[in-house]
Amino acid sequence: MKYNFDEIIDRKNNYSAKYDELKLKFGKDDLIPMWVADMDFKTAQPIIDAIKDRVEQGIYGYTSRPNSYYESVSEWLNKRHGWDADSKWMIHSPGVVPTLSILVKEFTEPGDKIIIQDPVYYPFFDVVRNNGRELVLNTLKLVDGNYVMDYEGLEEAAKAGAKMLILCNPHNPVGRVWTREELVKLGDICLKYGVRVISDEIHSDLIYKNNKHIPFAMISEEFCKNTITCVAPSKTFNLAGLQASLVIFPIKEEREKFDNILGALDIKRNSPFSVVATEAAYRHGEEWLEQLLEYLEANIDYIYDYCKLNIPNIKPNKPQGTYLVWFDCRELGMNSEELSKFMIEEVGVAMDDGFWFGSMGEGYVRMNIACPRSIIEQALERLKTAIEKL
Ligand SMILES: Cc1ncc(COP(=O)(O)O)c(C=O)c1O
Repeated sequence: MKYNFDEIIDRKNNYSAKYDELKLKFGKDDLIPMWVADMDFKTAQPIIDAIKDRVEQGIYGYTSRPNSYYESVSEWLNKRHGWDADSKWMIHSPGVVPTLSILVKEFTEPGDKIIIQDPVYYPFFDVVRNNGRELVLNTLKLVDGNYVMDYEGLEEAAKAGAKMLILCNPHNPVGRVWTREELVKLGDICLKYGVRVISDEIHSDLIYKNNKHIPFAMISEEFCKNTITCVAPSKTFNLAGLQASLVIFPIKEEREKFDNILGALDIKRNSPFSVVATEAAYRHGEEWLEQLLEYLEANIDYIYDYCKLNIPNIKPNKPQGTYLVWFDCRELGMNSEELSKFMIEEVGVAMDDGFWFGSMGEGYVRMNIACPRSIIEQALERLKTAIEKL
């Protein structure tokens, strides 16, 4: 089946956070929404069909999970990434961010130091701080336009007693797909000093040509035992609103502890829709995903070429993974507040401000490019016109 990613789907007035919360978030609603990370594309037809079948039954009671649910995830991870993760290691959870928060709260002590590598997905800051843990920033380094990890900084933080590291693999917002070598270096330091690794791999299926996602826990037996991994069909198949993710615990006691916590909160179940959508995605969504990746990559190339030719003072990175493009706008010479105002008032595009991701993000914006090409063309035209007026 050939999917049409050029189709414009009107998402306004449909309780879409990306569209209907523009005014709340940016103070205006006539902006092109390229912020929060969901896609303006319909998901794969087998997923829509599975949900439709479920809707047609007309009964949406408490829902159980068949073993095949977890098996579909396990088979997917093996097929796409070569990771033979046992389906018995997996626990369903309503989302990656709530999972991170529970892991921080239940697997560390108040006041413990937790490392994150900024600029990074901003809820990482919140899950540490809001649980009363000490945030330790091991800021990425920008070397010849490429973001790399600061291993010296990491070793120092680990030596100083950090208990946990939240790894973003691949990395939002800078789009790095970490190589095996990079992950091994990080993992060795964590093992040496007893730092637990939480690997957020929500973007792991959105990988572009010549890059390979390496599940962190797959690298070695020791890494596996030291890691709790989060995966989800939500970014890959545009299912974020269904609130389903998976947490992979190789250690039985930890898995049971997490399961009990979800049980105590009574949030153990899938919705009737997420259970069928997840399995349909992992079993039948690959054809759609392959076409999506091709489309996204062409969007990225378009952006890159357009900026080079028309607005050379704006420098987008070429992400190796994720549908998020990180734009370096520092040559505009604006501070964070001015840049944010400029994008809203003058350009008319709603993007994530770079500083939300940490202070290294000042002077940057993050554009969500998972939308029809025509929307990207409009947004870039607006950017060009506004810059010409400066
Ligand atoms: C790295 C990362 N983790 C987690 C999430 C959100 O996960 P969830 O919606 O399952 O809480 C996002 C969303 O953009 C993300 O980029």
